[in-house]
Amino acid sequence: MKVLSDSFSEDMVEIYDRFFLGEDKCQTEVDYIMQIFGQRIPDKHVLLDVGCGTGAYSEFFSPSFDIVISVDRSADMISFAREEHNKDNIEYLCKDAGCEEQYGSQKGDAAIALAHVIGYQLTNVAVMSFLKTINRNLYDNGVFLFSFYHQPALFLNKLEPRHIKKKVDSTEIIRISNAKLLPDENCLALDYYYVLSHDDRTRAFEIHEKMRYFSKYEVELFLTQTGFEVLSFFEYGGKNELTTDHWNGGCLARKVESYI
Ligand SMILES: C[S@@+](CC[C@H](N)C(=O)[O-])C[C@H]1O[C@@H](n2cnc3c(N)ncnc32)[C@H](O)[C@@H]1O
Repeated sequence: MKVLSDSFSEDMVEIYDRFFLGEDKCQTEVDYIMQIFGQRIPDKHVLLDVGCGTGAYSEFFSPSFDIVISVDRSADMISFAREEHNKDNIEYLCKDAGCEEQYGSQKGDAAIALAHVIGYQLTNVAVMSFLKTINRNLYDNGVFLFSFYHQPALFLNKLEPRHIKKKVDSTEIIRISNAKLLPDENCLALDYYYVLSHDDRTRAFEIHEKMRYFSKYEVELFLTQTGFEVLSFFEYGGKNELTTDHWNGGCLARKVESYI
């Protein structure tokens, strides 16, 4: 079976939006995040979408901001975003979010890193560079909202294989996924197997990835070492405080000092 290097290139780019997202999901999530930001951001201004992927969220956020600066290190994702989610007030940049430089033409009042982007930073050095660079790209008091795999929930609940079958236009997509803990590396090993069937044509591919998980204490330590303070932890997608039942962690942080 063909092996893809990651979930953000080749065949995956073409199915990503339709398999994972969709208009309702994006709009609901944008409303949810805008509510969490509340009065903390000035009216409109600049949003940084860090690890923007296909740009679907950037487009849904674009009416709520004057400018959206969207950064992703996958050239395939950025070229898809420029084609499919292009708006006059979105600036798409192909960059590593941990490059320790200014991303675009201006700093942000708010930043988001959705769908566990922080989990792709596997080493402590990579996590630090990622957060320092976001700090550098925010104005003072700028807020940063992100989701992450929450360690205690992964340890306390059995990780079951998952099977998803979805019809996307006229293509049937089957995904089987398996997750295994790598406790020595603070990571999950994720194996994905995809089968796409369209008329009498079938393609199959597999992806093997690692993603880092974090406890609240670890997130707090990284944030305070990179110029942020934690404003809240919450169950991402819900209204509850983050507990050991929730594997999908959310965090809202504020820039309190500068990293240059
Ligand atoms: C799971 S996707 C999420 C995309 C988008 N945030 C969403 O919610 O649809 C993760 C994205 O993060 C990007 N990414 C991960 N680490 C990155 C880094 N250090 N710099 C830039 N992009 C990164 C990947 O290329 C990928 O497109």
